[in-house]
Amino acid sequence: MPLPKAELHLHIEGTLEPELAFALAARNDVPLPYADTEELRRAYLFDDLQSFLDLYYGLMAVLRTEDDFAELADAYLARAAAQGVRHAEIFFDPQAHTARGVPLDTVIDGLSRALNASQERHGVSTRLILCFLRDQSAESALATLEAAKPHLHRITAVGLDSAEVGHPPAKFREVYEMAAALGLRRVAHAGEEGPPEYIRQALDILGVERIDHGLRCVEDPELVARLVRDRVPLTLCPLSNVRLRAIDVLEAHPLPRMMEAGLLCTVNSDDPAYFGGYVDDTFHAVREALGLSEERLRELARNSFEAAFLDDDEALRQRYLAEVAAYEFA
Ligand code: HPA
Ligand code: ZN
Repeated sequence: MPLPKAELHLHIEGTLEPELAFALAARNDVPLPYADTEELRRAYLFDDLQSFLDLYYGLMAVLRTEDDFAELADAYLARAAAQGVRHAEIFFDPQAHTARGVPLDTVIDGLSRALNASQERHGVSTRLILCFLRDQSAESALATLEAAKPHLHRITAVGLDSAEVGHPPAKFREVYEMAAALGLRRVAHAGEEGPPEYIRQALDILGVERIDHGLRCVEDPELVARLVRDRVPLTLCPLSNVRLRAIDVLEAHPLPRMMEAGLLCTVNSDDPAYFGGYVDDTFHAVREALGLSEERLRELARNSFEAAFLDDDEALRQRYLAEVAAYEFA
């Protein structure tokens, strides 16, 4: 039985496995520039975040109908449950779909259908996080949040993703103010490829409660001290960092040092169909490569529930934490 955990950094579009991509391409009559799933998998040799994003946005062309989005999310939740995930907070990129002519309602209705059935079908509680594409304009982000207003009861938080360098958090001050006024929680990718300064901006200007990735905080001791003092959760994605060349090899990942320093770290899968593993695969990989003790692994699982947006159901959080405390490693 895998260690019970929450997944807090997961792009639903990044769970599109080659097999499902080809099935949807056939169903929707969308041409793909790959002969088969093997050839597609061979294209997964990324140099950096941008080379991954080019493929990731391209493959989304197969997602067209409400059923497509529901199937995608249900397939992820089934896999997540098998990996010990009890609670999943799921990112989606509305602008990547509306730009292709897929209505926002189609995306949210499809995803919500799978998420609403998840507790009963898979034993996984869920939250949905709407992400703005930071390489699009601030006006486009504002229009996206405006368009999402009829769906706010199904959205817990806003996030910020896509190409980081050259698109600092400060660019999105206004839309994050609007999100806060609407009662939404706030997170943002920062310090994946971008500098520590972007992490500071996400905290100071966007008012985020968690930093997605945050890897590059280790370059700035003062920032680390602040993140420790304020118990700001970091949603780290070690397999993603290796595949996108943020670090050379998993053995060089700073996770053990970060935990040692007192940072509130969580381990997540980011885009598991592309990066070679779902979240329990990631736990196993870091355990092997970094020699993490069982108590460190338990701490990561505990952190994931402590950092989760479960404030509206503290009893559920406590139940999950009790499961982590009682877990016996094989
Ligand atoms: N970083 C930024 N944008 C993304 C990522 C990521 O790791 N995955 C999907 N969109
Ligand atoms: Zn991400």
